[in-house]
Amino acid sequence: MSDGYTIRGATLSDAERIFALIHLNRDQLVPRSMGNIIENIDRFVIAEADGEMVGCATFQVHPEIGDPEAAAVEIQSVADKGPVRRRGIGRALVEAVAERVAPFRPREVLVLTFAPEFFRALGFREIPKTNVMHKLYTGCINCTKHANPFTCPEIAMVREFAGK
Ligand SMILES: CC(C)(COP(=O)(O)OP(=O)(O)OC[C@H]1O[C@@H](n2cnc3c(N)ncnc32)[C@H](O)[C@@H]1OP(=O)(O)O)[C@@H](O)C(=O)NCCC(=O)NCCS
Repeated sequence: MSDGYTIRGATLSDAERIFALIHLNRDQLVPRSMGNIIENIDRFVIAEADGEMVGCATFQVHPEIGDPEAAAVEIQSVADKGPVRRRGIGRALVEAVAERVAPFRPREVLVLTFAPEFFRALGFREIPKTNVMHKLYTGCINCTKHANPFTCPEIAMVREFAGK
């Protein structure tokens, strides 16, 4: 427990609330179906405050980005509810995902985001989107918001793993 909230691994009973939170933030996040959330429930962490689910985050390993033996990990679906923002919960969610993937020894953590100031505060730095072309053409190509990943204002950022 820290500042009135806890971070824990998600359970199947959290899936519906995770779906609702991602849907609520659909202008900033890639949509996910309930099926996708349930299939990947072991990758999600959630934040709870006063017994309520108030935030979530997850990840995906990208063997196609960088050396496959130290592939990049993408942080995805980071969101917390409006009333609890700016209390450190977003940071705690990202750090919980980073801690969870650290034993895999990835080269770096990657994010595509509309919230660069948040990730900058967490030590991420901007990289050219051309560094993550494969990700753009497998993930972003399914997006219905922008015709072309390069005209989308989302920013690619990375944070290296200490000691790599
Ligand atoms: C982005 C988001 C997760 C941040 O959550 P949060 O709980 O408010 O973040 P924190 O309180 O942990 O903030 C961590 C740091 O980022 C900074 N920060 C957070 N949001 C920021 C913003 N919108 N602009 C500038 N800085 C911001 C904080 O000031 C803090 O810096 P500090 O530790 O140096 O004081 C939240 O605003 C959100 O859910 N947004 C909608 C979904 C989204 O855009 N997700 C990111 C895309 S992957």
